[in-house]
Amino acid sequence: MIDLAKVLGGFKPRTGLILGSGLGSLAEDIDAVARIDYAELDGFPESGVSGHAGHLIAGYLEKEPVLLLSGRSHYYEKGDAAVMRPALTALRDAGVERLLLTNSAGSTVTEMPPGSIMLITDHINFSGTNPLFGEETDGRFVGMTNAYDQTMRDGLEGTARHLDIELHQGCYMWFSGPSFETPAEIRMAKTLGADAVGMSTVPETILARFLGMKVAACSVITNYAAGMTGAELSHTETKEIAPRGGGKLSRLLRSAFANGALDGTS
Ligand code: HPA
Repeated sequence: MIDLAKVLGGFKPRTGLILGSGLGSLAEDIDAVARIDYAELDGFPESGVSGHAGHLIAGYLEKEPVLLLSGRSHYYEKGDAAVMRPALTALRDAGVERLLLTNSAGSTVTEMPPGSIMLITDHINFSGTNPLFGEETDGRFVGMTNAYDQTMRDGLEGTARHLDIELHQGCYMWFSGPSFETPAEIRMAKTLGADAVGMSTVPETILARFLGMKVAACSVITNYAAGMTGAELSHTETKEIAPRGGGKLSRLLRSAFANGALDGTS
């Protein structure tokens, strides 16, 4: 196993990034200091989902020192909602104060078609589980009122406006997966206030807040949710469409870092 602190040496990352399915291209924009397979890092997930690579990259994204997790594990793989806890703890221990999560998601909103990007403003945990089950400290009672950091959101929104990129905003609902939702579940999700649905991110947000990190999250919309068009959903489609919105999201994040927009100072 590799000792991350030793490998990082004087490199002091402040921001963590997790890339979702088909969004790996951002990893290529990083001026890398180190690149380590998850297999060499204690407790890091064995990512088994195609479209998820499974390595940690330390480096500079537009001068911002970042630790990027390319690939994540999901609750649906082994039924462990806390599967990302060791990796997120390692990021926090390396100095990461804020986390940017990306995912692909289905849209419940006609005006937010595939290829759109959405800033997550809030979430609904519809999985029935929680990554903090079993945690015994009082820290487990994490406040989730401001789960998605307002300063980071303002920075991303302002950057999108500046770049003339349409950035939708909305509520993300976590379904356990791995089967996609039924049309009835999507009608329910929409009624309950979900703008996008997906199988990730929410447990990571909860863990990151528990660990004291700020969080922002963006979805790339890869499809209209089940029943909205009559078409069947597939992971192949997710992987094919994700890079379309992923390009926009990469541009947005690079520019936000270049301008210090996430710091609330620009
Ligand atoms: N549902 C759940 N997860 C998803 C979807 C969806 O429609 N699209 C991409 N990830």
